[in-house]
Amino acid sequence: MNTTTPGGPPSGSLTATPTSSCSRGLDSSEITQSPLLSSINLDKEDFRAACSKFPTGITITTVKGADGRPYGITVNSFTSVSWEPPLVLVCIDYRSQILGHLVIHRYFGINCLSHDQQELSIRFSQSWNERFHDIAWYDGVTRAPLLFDVAAVLECKVVRTVRIGDHMIVVGEVVHAKSSERTPLAYLERNYGTVVNSRSGCRPEPIISKTDSGAGLES
Ligand SMILES: Cc1cc2nc3c(=O)[nH]c(=O)nc-3n(C[C@H](O)[C@H](O)[C@H](O)COP(=O)(O)O)c2cc1C
Repeated sequence: MNTTTPGGPPSGSLTATPTSSCSRGLDSSEITQSPLLSSINLDKEDFRAACSKFPTGITITTVKGADGRPYGITVNSFTSVSWEPPLVLVCIDYRSQILGHLVIHRYFGINCLSHDQQELSIRFSQSWNERFHDIAWYDGVTRAPLLFDVAAVLECKVVRTVRIGDHMIVVGEVVHAKSSERTPLAYLERNYGTVVNSRSGCRPEPIISKTDSGAGLES
């Protein structure tokens, strides 16, 4: 069900212009030169597979609705953007119901999950109405709803939303941030895992190891 109000059609086409720096490491013949993204004959599965090779953490992005209830969604497209001012972004499918609540000037939380919070990741990507059922949460300093036992949490104010393709980029100014000693949950090749601190060894070690559940990562 789409209850969101997308910000209109994509604002024009992007031009793909390979440069020497972005082609480093690739055979230049592998880069398809095309003026319009929409005309590139890309195999979607190749795209997904390539993206899945980039390890990320997992966040639950949360917001309190105008009705006072907490809402949340599993998001791994989180990244920091700027130190001054302190900005971060998440990319959210424009059909997601959460976008109806993530409006300019509203505060939201980015809960970076711990290695043992895989179930939260699954839950907050499934049935919309069940997500906060029996889940403990508390009000942050901005009153954004926050989860317990996470590796880190950032509270942000929505300063910009940009619709691009089938997603909305939501840019937040960070107003509060806190981190714990907990090891973060990791995500790679569509599997969950955990991060191993390689500083203890003198040789490079795999930085991601399988989770106990076996639904882990190749190292
Ligand atoms: C590991 C993982 C990462 C995800 N990352 C994102 C993301 O970055 N952006 C997004 O829009 N959806 C992401 N999703 C999908 C959403 O969590 C889920 O499909 C979405 O909440 C369903 O739409 P709804 O919120 O309207 O119910 C992710 C799901 C999983 C399991």
